[in-house]
Amino acid sequence: MQKLLIKGGKKLSGEVVVSGSKNASLPIIISSLLFDDAAQFENVPKVKDIYTLINLIKVLGREVEFDEHKEVLKISKKKKDKYFPPYSIMKTMRAGVLVLAPLLAKFGKAKVSLPGGCSIGARPVNLHLYALKKLGAKINVKNGYIDANAPRGLSGANIKFPTISVGATESIIIAAVLAKGVTKISNAALEPEIIDLIKFLNKCGADIQYNLKRKIVIKGVKFLYPTRHKIIPDRIEAATYAIAALITNGKLLIKNVDNDHLENIFSVLRKIGANIKIFKDSFIIFRKHQLKPFKIITKPYPGFPTDMQAQFMALATQIKGSSEINEEIFENRFLHVSELMRMGADIEIKKQKATIRGIKNLNCAEVMATDLRASVSLVLAALSAKGVTTINRIYHLDRGYSKLEKKLNLCGASVRRSA
Ligand code: EPZ
Repeated sequence: MQKLLIKGGKKLSGEVVVSGSKNASLPIIISSLLFDDAAQFENVPKVKDIYTLINLIKVLGREVEFDEHKEVLKISKKKKDKYFPPYSIMKTMRAGVLVLAPLLAKFGKAKVSLPGGCSIGARPVNLHLYALKKLGAKINVKNGYIDANAPRGLSGANIKFPTISVGATESIIIAAVLAKGVTKISNAALEPEIIDLIKFLNKCGADIQYNLKRKIVIKGVKFLYPTRHKIIPDRIEAATYAIAALITNGKLLIKNVDNDHLENIFSVLRKIGANIKIFKDSFIIFRKHQLKPFKIITKPYPGFPTDMQAQFMALATQIKGSSEINEEIFENRFLHVSELMRMGADIEIKKQKATIRGIKNLNCAEVMATDLRASVSLVLAALSAKGVTTINRIYHLDRGYSKLEKKLNLCGASVRRSA
């Protein structure tokens, strides 16, 4: 298994170009299964989850061409109708459950493997299934598969989510755009990745309205015509590099971002003493003085994103005083804590609350990545620790960060991948 060797202690300085959003690419590319015609997407990140999705889309009867250099992904028009992606592909990417929606909407039937949990939590899909049933799907979960049928097609319904769910909101948007009648969703997730999905589908002829009170109204249409779409920048990748600048006491210009999507993170960073200069589609970040300890609670957007929790924890280990992080979205998203403690961090966990007492310096060590964002928090910690840190199981990292070593080394880091 591959690992990263990081020689820390260097101040990062220079420019980072952020890639397209993984979490916008997945639902948008999956929604193209609604079309008969070809579709084309730009600014698609070169990350492992995209390659897994390409395999899934191919199994479902499409040809897919991904120009890695131009980051353009083309999906051919429908060749044959396939409704049953194999477990071997589904088990590697949880977002695969999203294919239920377009297959049901288009063909009236679908069979996908029940996604397993992952290290950060059980990751149930009950809200996806509850909402698809409200649209008229008959769903049977047996032997680890979800068997869905809607022989008379899907019909609009009123859906009130008991819990805000990004994936379940995406499922229903994709399922409802071709349904008969009107679908009204309450308590919807409104992450920027969902707004990008809505913008893309409306460009293709869908009729989706939303407001900031978490209400979405979808009027079913008869046809959708695919248009080209440029995926939004990855706000979590951008924020991760912002932490890299602060944890190494460096200064970075972070380019190809949508600063509006980062406001919730910028407000925390400014409060703790970071200097942030905003430009049209980039920002500069550095710190003049010692940063102040902080208290964060993860919430659905526009609250503080759970996908930045691990990265802020790495930063907190370097801030004098006591910081507090409450993880309220996932039940087991502190797996990076034990690894950070192997590097000398002083962290105490009580249920969903982590208290981090800042120390002088972390020590280099051999550590293990456990999930996507935990792995990048270890990279950040390693960048600040003196000596060489080895991070094992970096396939987790490759799922969501494109060209990480190259981007860091261009800013003066010393990161090497080894088998
Ligand atoms: C999306 O996951 C993201 N993944 C996650 O990013 C992100 O952490 C999460 O949203 C929250 O922002 C993608 O977009 C591919 P949820 P998703 O449904 O849709 C519970 C990363 O690092 N829930 O909003 O799976 C669930 O267990 C990944 O890029 C149910 O109970 O998240 C969790 O506690 C990690 N039943 C909470 O809701 C359901 O049917 C929020 O989950 C669905 C979810």
